[in-house]
Amino acid sequence: MTYNFDEYIERRQTNSMKWDMFRDPAYTIPMPVADMDFRVAPPIHQRLLSIAQHGVYGYAVLPQELPTVVCSMLLEKYNWAIDPDWLVWMPGMVVGLSNAAALWANSEKGILTVAPIYPPFYKAIAYAGKNLQTTALLLVNGRYTLNFEEIERSFGKNIGFFMLCNPQNPGGTVFTKIELNRLAALCVQYNVTLLSDEIHCELLLDPKAIHIPIASLNNEIMQNTITMMSPSKTYNIAGLGCTFAIIPNATLRAQFVKKAEGNWPMISRMAFEAALVAYTQCDQWKTDLLHYLKGNHALVLEKVNSLPGLNMQPLQATYLAWVNAQLQPQLYENLLENGLRLNQGAYYLQPGFLRLNFACPRATLTEGLSRLETTVLNNLA
Ligand SMILES: Cc1ncc(COP(=O)(O)O)c(C=O)c1O
Repeated sequence: MTYNFDEYIERRQTNSMKWDMFRDPAYTIPMPVADMDFRVAPPIHQRLLSIAQHGVYGYAVLPQELPTVVCSMLLEKYNWAIDPDWLVWMPGMVVGLSNAAALWANSEKGILTVAPIYPPFYKAIAYAGKNLQTTALLLVNGRYTLNFEEIERSFGKNIGFFMLCNPQNPGGTVFTKIELNRLAALCVQYNVTLLSDEIHCELLLDPKAIHIPIASLNNEIMQNTITMMSPSKTYNIAGLGCTFAIIPNATLRAQFVKKAEGNWPMISRMAFEAALVAYTQCDQWKTDLLHYLKGNHALVLEKVNSLPGLNMQPLQATYLAWVNAQLQPQLYENLLENGLRLNQGAYYLQPGFLRLNFACPRATLTEGLSRLETTVLNNLA
């Protein structure tokens, strides 16, 4: 390991959403909000320092080399050859989700998504003025997957747009080629446009999991899909805001771009250049990060599954454990009293579950897990 992820970096009173928003007592360890308590890779840090030293924060344009870098990255990692003209740069993925859903606002057709899922998916559908229609994740042999029969039934009832998250947040699944082919075939058969949020695609924990951008499977699904990716989660630059959509279909891309007009702020120089450096100079950092996260994941998995009334499935990707605490109904509140803040499952439409972000130094995680254990055991006493 070249990089040290054990270093504790104080984030309180840095206007951090994770550490400061909830106004918790100083003792509380926060493990909600999907960012990491690690400093960025040194090349990103250096680039941002040099921009700060320059001291001018005017409007920025897309760095000329960034589209080429993204195209090479997609080719190298996923064997997906794209045209740089298919890229649409966005200041964040959540605005992209809402923008895409808004394309269906005046359509007679509905929008379907998965439950549980990252809550802005639900909001995007609500902002588009559509009823929320969901298909539940199925737990099959210790892994969450899609209910294809249910999806097909829904598609048959006037669905125009399906919103997928792959790797799945919060289920942790990396969908296989077989699953993706099946979903792609359904989308094509029922003429359903697909949104594939692939923000977690580089955070693979399971050595057997391979991320496949669904749009890369064949030309038909490619023409029907809006793929979204970003270096923000993997390289811990989410607060900067540089994301891209890949929309090969020119008509769909034009609609998407038009819908966004006047709605999005410009992307900053810091965000663009951090993305550029992330994709070109941070491979070793990422390798070490994944090694560290795998260690944290093993600790969480073992502890959670050793506690009475709790269980979780191993994650294939992400640093977000999805803990079934349905047998411990007051656990969220009790954990807060004992100084551990997690995310509540109800927020993801799965009450009784808790989401635990383990992207933190091991000492912090160990203390958090110890508070989890004490609270669970006290509840039973
Ligand atoms: C699946 C998913 N999509 C999007 C986002 C947020 O993207 P952004 O910060 O670029 O809006 C997150 C953050 O946790 C996420 O988990």
